[in-house]
Amino acid sequence: MKALVLSGGTGTRLRPLTHTGAKQLLPVANKPILFYVIEKLKACHIENIGVIISPETGREVRKALGDGSRFGVQFHFLEQDAPRGLAHTVQVAEDFLANDPFVMYLGDNLIGSPISRFVERFQQRKSDAHVLLKGVENPSAFGVAETDEEGNVKRLVEKPKVPPSNLALVGLYIFSPEIHKATRAIKPSWRNELEITDAIQWLVDHQRPVTSEILESWWLDTGKKDDILAANTAVLDDWIQRQIDGEVDSLSQVNGRVQLGKGSKVINSTLRGPIVIGEGVTVENSFIGPFTSIGNQSRIIDATIQHCVLLEECQVVGINRLEDSICGRKSIVRAAGNKSNGHRLLIGDDSVVEVK
Ligand code: TTP
Repeated sequence: MKALVLSGGTGTRLRPLTHTGAKQLLPVANKPILFYVIEKLKACHIENIGVIISPETGREVRKALGDGSRFGVQFHFLEQDAPRGLAHTVQVAEDFLANDPFVMYLGDNLIGSPISRFVERFQQRKSDAHVLLKGVENPSAFGVAETDEEGNVKRLVEKPKVPPSNLALVGLYIFSPEIHKATRAIKPSWRNELEITDAIQWLVDHQRPVTSEILESWWLDTGKKDDILAANTAVLDDWIQRQIDGEVDSLSQVNGRVQLGKGSKVINSTLRGPIVIGEGVTVENSFIGPFTSIGNQSRIIDATIQHCVLLEECQVVGINRLEDSICGRKSIVRAAGNKSNGHRLLIGDDSVVEVK
């Protein structure tokens, strides 16, 4: 069994963060989303991994993943010239995948459970495609499946106006080499992409076994800002244990599951977990509330923060309450030194600022 991890695309919905980096490398609990994907594959003993990269962010993704030794896997980087669709990535990877079955995993998706049992199901049922489904409130925003009682897929539709069910396709698929016939046979959709739903539908139409199962655990597709915050919350809630490697002074309180990295200092402050704080961070005269991740070398002074993701080298100074926010690398949020009530901003393209 091989894997194909998708780390191309444009990430337009996550601008401005994706102006300067790949969305799959955005951190959740201070670790790139893509690393969780690789770790899940490794835990399932899948070590031969093709990684789809784009011309824009490919170098950065290669650098972050390295040669695979830190994960105990081998990477084969495969450049896709433009985001021409999920089924197009299978075409790009056809030589690498050869005659092996493979797990296709979207590099910006997080799943709460291990993936080995899905692979076992695929093998037991001798499927040509095995998909995971999750009930969602807004199926029109997803690829949606219609199944029979045994979970055999009858029909798939991409972003239907009238959804046949509330079962959305989760960003993890398992395929036999039959999928290559399908990706070669289909035509681009109205949005000019080769859709994986069309390729799977082609298998259904050609009487190939396409099976499904419902994912019981959480699933997060980190396409937009609130999805990143939700993923951060889920990961902090489920996977973070208390570990204090930094210094906490006698005037401070650190409650619950808090990770404080080496060289970080907490001075006259209260931390209430779950929280992850990286290395070399200073927190002074501040309150940090649950579901917050703070990147290395950041400074939080005279501030209250909760339910936030701060990337590396951020500064939050003199802010009464910062919540539900994501701050990119080296961003500064501080109280204005002037007496006027006006807001003074220096923000990049596609930024969003919500003020009262
Ligand atoms: P999407 O989130 O559907 O696409 P995107 O990254 O272009 O984002 P946006 O809609 O905000 O512009 O892609 C899902 C995952 O698959 C993501 O990790 C990017 C990857 N991908 C590719 O590698 N190649 C592709 O052709 C496409 C469409 C996506």
